[in-house]
Amino acid sequence: MNDVILRTEKLVHTYPTGVTALKEVSVDFYRNDVVSIVGQNGSGKTTLVRHFNGLLRPSSGKVYVDGEDASSKSVSVMSRMVGYVFQNPNHQIFCTTVRDELAVAPKNYGFSPGEIEDNISRVVELMGLEPILKTHPLSLDYTTKKIVTIASVLAYNPPIVILDEPTGGLDQAGREMLSKIIQITHDAGHTMIIISHDMDYVAENSRRVIVMTGGKIILNDTPWVIFNNKEVMRQAQIEPPQITQLDLAVRADDNPSLSVGAFVEKYRNRKNV
Ligand SMILES: Nc1ncnc2c1ncn2[C@@H]1O[C@H](COP(=O)(O)OP(=O)(O)OP(=O)(O)O)[C@@H](O)[C@H]1O
Ligand SMILES: [Mg+2]
Repeated sequence: MNDVILRTEKLVHTYPTGVTALKEVSVDFYRNDVVSIVGQNGSGKTTLVRHFNGLLRPSSGKVYVDGEDASSKSVSVMSRMVGYVFQNPNHQIFCTTVRDELAVAPKNYGFSPGEIEDNISRVVELMGLEPILKTHPLSLDYTTKKIVTIASVLAYNPPIVILDEPTGGLDQAGREMLSKIIQITHDAGHTMIIISHDMDYVAENSRRVIVMTGGKIILNDTPWVIFNNKEVMRQAQIEPPQITQLDLAVRADDNPSLSVGAFVEKYRNRKNV
């Protein structure tokens, strides 16, 4: 578990406009971790993860992917390791059928025809896409479009999967499917990095939370530690899930519940609270 798969060292990114969006960010991501990155708009979350697949390059500092300095690696080589699902699915759809969309990346990465078929079948089954394989992706509703873009990344099995605001605009069924996908992909050994403003989702779906403000990481710890730290939440303008707030208000212990299920379980067997 302590096997670092992604590392940044004093990573700085200044856009051509002069905005310095990352200020000496040093952080490690471990193999098979499930990490959320949170923080207010403009705190640098997307800028950080775009360095992991080479869409952005450091102004200074280093990025290491699987122990290797990324500065000499092409976007194509880095993307094979790090799959990135865009915030807006409309920016990631290129083909006229869902099936073709799922085949793009495996073809680009030189998978054999048999491997392409196997991988498409795997994600189609995982995400229930069979009925829409011949549909034009842009004609789908927002949730399904988003699910298709996630499927198109999982179809080439990158060891690291980044989801940028995956729950934004998703309906309840989409959210549940997403939780299932995160769970199954994690169980299959992948490293998951999830950028989110949705604290309910973060609390239920991550082992570790990285909090960013103003281009810096101010805390990198478990959801319990993050949601217990009032000063960090104030600085980052985040609030714990409502169920955690309720549990913190009751203050039965230092281990606030992160989901309704955990809350019910905790209080079911307790007296005098
Ligand atoms: N292409 C760009 N050109 C210039 N400045 C940019 C560009 N993209 C982002 N920025 C600036 O860099 C800073 C960090 O932006 P970034 O998109 O990384 O934040 P974020 O945490 O992902 O925000 P959000 O939650 O709104 O997605 C902001 O000040 C933003 O205005
Ligand atoms: Mg962003």
